[in-house]
Amino acid sequence: MDPDLSEALDSAWRLIGRGAADRRSPLHTPMVASVRDGLPQARVMVLRAADRTGATLRFHTDARSPKCAELDGQTVTVLGYHPGEAVQLRLSGTARVVGTGVEVDRIWAQSTPFARRCYMVEAAPGTPLPGPGSGLPASVEGRKPEEAELVPARAHFAIVQITVTAIDWLHLAAAGHRRAMFRREAQGWQGEWRLP
Ligand SMILES: Cc1cc2nc3c(=O)[nH]c(=O)nc-3n(C[C@H](O)[C@H](O)[C@H](O)COP(=O)(O)O)c2cc1C
Repeated sequence: MDPDLSEALDSAWRLIGRGAADRRSPLHTPMVASVRDGLPQARVMVLRAADRTGATLRFHTDARSPKCAELDGQTVTVLGYHPGEAVQLRLSGTARVVGTGVEVDRIWAQSTPFARRCYMVEAAPGTPLPGPGSGLPASVEGRKPEEAELVPARAHFAIVQITVTAIDWLHLAAAGHRRAMFRREAQGWQGEWRLP
């Protein structure tokens, strides 16, 4: 790959890595888009981890959420914009929703009690309510849950693992915008410049 293309790919993965590690990064909360009945569905999700070697991204969600069926085994797009770097990243790949196994147990155990409390909601996200409400049991609203209370919530927790197969990198600059398209092939990442 030409050195300028490699640099763009490096910059993309650096921004993604920082997005996962730094909650102040604008790429910490990208949009994850799927398709439901032929209609695009996009939502903000917290990027929890990124691994350049395996080309994977990890998000967390409620296993009862309707988006799980839309994401699992499907091609999805992750979109973010970093205003400081003037870089838009549009990543596509295949998602897998995993709710069981030692790896998911480990990630669950490492989450804070407040983060795990989200999974104590009593019904699936999107369930109609008679009025405004969080869906949490009243007994736990406004306080940190005890470990014992969190045990049943584990069944509602799932990770969304996305294996990235393409990256559309767009850099805005007064001197001239630049755009590159990268695809992950068997022999590694291949890139080419595109008209922005
Ligand atoms: C800043 C922010 C972060 C969010 N992070 C997550 C997340 O990590 N996982 C998640 O499932 N939903 C997250 N949400 C909520 C989703 O955007 C969405 O509203 C919810 O999951 C329902 O989406 P669905 O109807 O497509 O399933 C977040 C929302 C915001 C505003």
